[in-house]
Amino acid sequence: MEKWQEELKKEKLPRHVAIIMDGNGRWAQKKGLSRNKGHRQGVETLKKVVRTCGEMGISFLTVFAFSTENWDRPRNEVLFLMDLFHRTFKKEARELIANRVRVVFIGYRSGLSRDLQETMNNIEKDTRSCDGIQLNIALNYGGRQEIMEAARALVDRGDRDFSQEEFSGNLFSAPCPDVDLLIRPGGEMRLSNFLLWQSAYAELYFTPVLWPDFSETDLYQAVQDFQKRQRRFGGVGGE
Ligand code: IPE
Ligand code: IPE
Ligand code: MG
Repeated sequence: MEKWQEELKKEKLPRHVAIIMDGNGRWAQKKGLSRNKGHRQGVETLKKVVRTCGEMGISFLTVFAFSTENWDRPRNEVLFLMDLFHRTFKKEARELIANRVRVVFIGYRSGLSRDLQETMNNIEKDTRSCDGIQLNIALNYGGRQEIMEAARALVDRGDRDFSQEEFSGNLFSAPCPDVDLLIRPGGEMRLSNFLLWQSAYAELYFTPVLWPDFSETDLYQAVQDFQKRQRRFGGVGGE
């Protein structure tokens, strides 16, 4: 076991980790490859990260796979990504069940092809009773849209006097707890419309490492950094 693995405090683990998987295109371009090769390599990183988060004892992992704004990319990249998602979900289903990973999709399914939707529904159904880590995959997801949907649902029900908890209960991510640690590899320091409501008090961790190069060590370092932070939630601190 590496030194930093031993140094993680089990009692101070983030319950919910969120990751903006960014930098696939630049990783590929730097190597003279097509952007799509970067996306393919990004899948390999995700598999490693899910396994490591599970081993660490993290309960919820939410990853940003495709934003509502990513439709603005060139058509061939969008088509490649949709096909990659479809193939990956089909290929990995058995392994996910074997590792007791419960998969939940958040985002707008209606914009996706019927085949992809069916594969997503099947994975959710087949992993429903898995009692390991919960992997939320944000696909065709937008944070603002999610907030507006929740507001609309409550107002449609005639409910105008709702609490923050009730509001949270109407988000795509419900009943998942708020984000504790939000990691963005790839060098950009922005949220890009990811989990806006759920990250209100998240600790943010940015690293220039591009997602396909993001290693177990990078993940441990992010969690170690989280464990050194003092979360105050508006108070004055002191544990
Ligand atoms: C993230 O990598 C993957 C998706 C948005 C689907 P990018 O494709 O954004 O990679 P860069 O940021 O262009 O390097
Ligand atoms: C955010 O990355 C979306 C995903 C990782 C799926 P982007 O690459 O789309 O974000 P911007 O465009 O740099 O803000
Ligand atoms: Mg990007």
